[in-house]
Amino acid sequence: MTFEVPDLPYDYSALEPYIDEETMRIHHDKHHAAYVNMLNGALEAAGIEGKTVKELITDLDSVPEAQRGAVRNHGGGHFNHSLFWEVMGPVNGEMSSELNAALLDAFGSLDDFKAKFQTAAMTRFGSGWAWLCSVNGKLEICSTANQDNPIMGSEYGGCGKTPILGIDVWEHAYYLNYQNLRADYVTAFFNVVNWAEVSKRYSETL
Ligand SMILES: [Fe+2]
Repeated sequence: MTFEVPDLPYDYSALEPYIDEETMRIHHDKHHAAYVNMLNGALEAAGIEGKTVKELITDLDSVPEAQRGAVRNHGGGHFNHSLFWEVMGPVNGEMSSELNAALLDAFGSLDDFKAKFQTAAMTRFGSGWAWLCSVNGKLEICSTANQDNPIMGSEYGGCGKTPILGIDVWEHAYYLNYQNLRADYVTAFFNVVNWAEVSKRYSETL
């Protein structure tokens, strides 16, 4: 079986004015599609089939060395973007009481959480992601380079934690609308976080 780009769970224009339609079209239809195509090509070359993308990127040592880098980069790209589309939406959705309590416990206030998340997104030099992760219900913020993900092993840039929210800080995620102003994009991002989806992902880590 080969991987496919999942449909967006909303219209391309649904996140405007915070994320513009053209950015969403290019990001989803071109960038995400490229990761999926390259992943499929690497798996075919490696003779690997029947694994989920999560299984692949959490066990990169089992991928032949010749394709390991491609599976890390493009499998990570597929996994990361699939999460990204789902944790955003045209409405914020309701945060569960469990997630709200965990955010307050970890960061003191929602504003303090946002500030720390923004710092992680701003201090990721070059291309990468900032994440809110759950470790058995305890929340932590981290960031990864390129298309690495926290669920990857430490030798691949991960930390074994489970991401429940992530922001793509590659320039392709914001450059058309925000140019070099990553901070404005990161600030706007909170207007399109689907807290109901993030809460669901949090509950699965408990
Ligand atoms: Fe991206």
